[in-house]
Amino acid sequence: MQLCVIPGDGIGHEVIPVAVSALRRLLPGLQTHAADAGWECFQRSGSSVPEATLESLRASGAGLFGAVSSPARKVAGYRSAILTLRQQLGLNCNLRPVRSWPVISPRSGIDMLILRENSEGLYVGREHMESEGIAIAERQISRVACEQFAARIVEVAEQRSAHRVTLAHKANVLLLTCGLFRDTCRQVLAAHGWEAQVDERLVDVAALQLVESPESFDVLATTNLFGDILSDLACYWSGGLGMAPSLNWGQSIALAEPVHGSAPDIVGTGRANPIAALLSAALLLRYHWQQPELAARLDAAVEGFLVEAGAVDFADRTTEIIADGVISRL
Ligand code: NAD
Ligand code: IPM
Ligand code: MN
Repeated sequence: MQLCVIPGDGIGHEVIPVAVSALRRLLPGLQTHAADAGWECFQRSGSSVPEATLESLRASGAGLFGAVSSPARKVAGYRSAILTLRQQLGLNCNLRPVRSWPVISPRSGIDMLILRENSEGLYVGREHMESEGIAIAERQISRVACEQFAARIVEVAEQRSAHRVTLAHKANVLLLTCGLFRDTCRQVLAAHGWEAQVDERLVDVAALQLVESPESFDVLATTNLFGDILSDLACYWSGGLGMAPSLNWGQSIALAEPVHGSAPDIVGTGRANPIAALLSAALLLRYHWQQPELAARLDAAVEGFLVEAGAVDFADRTTEIIADGVISRL
């Protein structure tokens, strides 16, 4: 098996080596290929995703990405590396599981999978100033992207034997874009026999229910920006951003990535939680490499570590203590 490893910026360099060590334990023959991307890469080379990185990912068919920093202002020629990777590699579905973990979660009994459409919506990059004082952003929803996305909903719902798929949208206002998303997903799900289990919510109500009754969600599928926001909100129940994994999932290629960013406020302090990166590696095992037993061993190692640790504030040795505690269980 081949893995392209892209730590990126900031704490990406601290958490990704932990996830690679875990994968090496589980897959002794794993071959890794280091690659560069991100803000520091842009400053060094003028590109946030060098062509060599795309080639390495395509050749490996699987990648593990840390995080990148992005300035919140326009810098000529710069675009967030992760957005370029999702687009260039056709990673059109983003899996973001949220579940209760012992010790660290504020509540037990939560187990949901947020599926975020990953290729379009407000992320198509079409923003312009129409005139002085009027900025326009375009939101694209296409039937073909919704069909591909809905095929993934069916695939994961069947694997989880989900009793419910909830579509979150805002079709009462965004009649055409959200309407097309909702109707296309419903058609594909119905064609696979899932009609009776599909439910829908306006995204604002879905946000409230994620706070009020998170255990009522099973598979929650939504458009790109809504999924970005709802997944950060929901990961509160997993124990926060340090516990939130994701998988950017394409046709024959996948890129695992913790949901968190480069965390400039804690970089170099040893406080970065590597569990989001470890659980992202488990998603690669489960969904892309089709190794559910190995994925379950990694999830169980995290769970076993948390139970034994009994507390989670490790302050300045967080990364090291968690890495040792989880990897020694594999
Ligand atoms: P962030 O996720 O980097 O940090 C938010 C807060 O969570 C910070 O207080 C941070 O210390 C904490 N945190 C995050 N991950 C943690 C971990 N593993 N362990 C412990 N604490 C953790 O988000 P931000 O501060 O809004 O953004 C910082 C930079 O990261 C920005 O440049 C932003 O654009 C970028 N970003 C990148 C990605 C990505 O690469 N996928 C995602 C989000 C933000
Ligand atoms: C995420 C991040 C990215 C996004 C940023 C860094 C571009 O927030 O992966 O959730 O908005 O998709
Ligand atoms: Mn986000």
